[in-house]
Amino acid sequence: MNGPCIFNDDFTKSLRSELVSADLIVFCSPMYDFGFSAQLKTVIDRFYALNGQLHVKKKAAFLMAYANQAKKDADAMVAHYRTLIDYMGWEDAGQVIAPGIWTPGSIKGTPYAEAAYQLGKTVK
Ligand SMILES: Cc1cc2nc3c(=O)[nH]c(=O)nc-3n(C[C@H](O)[C@H](O)[C@H](O)COP(=O)(O)O)c2cc1C
Repeated sequence: MNGPCIFNDDFTKSLRSELVSADLIVFCSPMYDFGFSAQLKTVIDRFYALNGQLHVKKKAAFLMAYANQAKKDADAMVAHYRTLIDYMGWEDAGQVIAPGIWTPGSIKGTPYAEAAYQLGKTVK
């Protein structure tokens, strides 16, 4: 924690400084087995090495899509997001939760892409 990360990869070379300087961090993931994608979780796990630098005033937003229709199926991911940003001390700027998105292209004709666009446009 709070040291140089032992992995000298793309995160260390570019994403690390972007995260530290960002005012807004957007978490974006499909639902995989009621949780974040492994790809997003891999990035979140790298927060550990820069914990102190990230515990500063920032905003966060959350975009997620999943196949099922049940609203409650999103609860675990939303709770994970909320718990994580509360721990980091970040303010929630908004969430777009998109059920019923299964096959490629099925987001078309739904209000979710526009909702994500408006969230990005209006966040202060
Ligand atoms: C490994 C895997 C696990 C999934 N788990 C769930 C799930 O638990 N609940 C659900 O509603 N959809 C689930 N889905 C469906 C995806 O959330 C949905 O198809 C999503 O739009 C896929 O986004 P992608 O094309 O970016 O992978 C899963 C899909 C995959 C590939």
